Amino acid sequence: MKQDSLQLSGGRAAVKIQIRGVYKVFGRREAEALRLLHEGADKSEVQQATGTNVGLAGVDADIPTGVITCIMGLSGSGKSTLVRHLNRLIDPSAGRILFDGEDILQLSMAQLRQLRRHRVSMVFQSFGLLPHINVVENVAFGLRVRGEPRARASETARLWLERVGLTEYEHNYPDELSGGMRQRVGLARALATDADVLLMDEAFSALDPLIRYDMQDQLLELQQRLNKTIVFITHDIEEALRLGQHIIILREGKVEQAGGPEEIRLHPANEYVQRFLVRRV
Ligand SMILES: Nc1ncnc2c1ncn2[C@@H]1O[C@H](COP(=O)(O)OP(=O)(O)O)[C@@H](O)[C@H]1O
Ligand SMILES: [Mg+2]
Repeated sequence: MKQDSLQLSGGRAAVKIQIRGVYKVFGRREAEALRLLHEGADKSEVQQATGTNVGLAGVDADIPTGVITCIMGLSGSGKSTLVRHLNRLIDPSAGRILFDGEDILQLSMAQLRQLRRHRVSMVFQSFGLLPHINVVENVAFGLRVRGEPRARASETARLWLERVGLTEYEHNYPDELSGGMRQRVGLARALATDADVLLMDEAFSALDPLIRYDMQDQLLELQQRLNKTIVFITHDIEEALRLGQHIIILREGKVEQAGGPEEIRLHPANEYVQRFLVRRV
């Protein structure tokens, strides 16, 4: 059944990405592991029986258009595995991913390249900046890779550096910047490609608390103007509640709860979610 809108606190939103029945098993005895999962075995039972590592154990989720969705869970809960399915860095063991209603597992190589260069971009925790080129060249990198002429790529890069407040640093090299500044360069680089969807995997997790808070502010402020579809991964419930209009809580490769921040705060689906919320005070 095709679901094409989702209830959010501010009203209904169109769905950008539909994740349907997605399983990911790492290891050789994948088919056997899938069978056990379908029969109701959990991650550790499957691991014991087959020696495989279960990344995702049947995920159904929607990523709404034009808002920040936070995928939250403890380390090892499957957050990175899930987000890497969205640009096909990982293919599922079973299930489907529909991007604008189109099954991305069916894409040709050329269409996949198109998806990665124009429709999704990714910001990593480790910044992923190239050390031997300066800041403006780093921001322009994605544009150069997809064949834009140098002058136009640099012009776009400068615009984004200005928006993240780094104009004065365009000629510096990454190792001359603080962690927070480097992550702003990473953010500018991802935004410069003007992709429909921005994936941020623990993008702020390595930063000191105050800088992290500033980055959250900056992202929220940018987002007020951009209305991008952002998938933000975090292991921190505070960060998820602060940034996310839609929150998906993962545990052992499954969705424990999905909903808006108020809904999760006021109506935690179970004790597991409740415990996260209690721990914040
Ligand atoms: N390439 C891989 N090979 C084997 N197991 C993996 C691989 N990637 C992830 N896993 C396993 O999948 C589970 C989910 O991992 P991950 O998605 O990285 O979690 P998170 O990002 O929430 O910390 C973990 O048990 C992890 O060990
Ligand atoms: Mg991770």
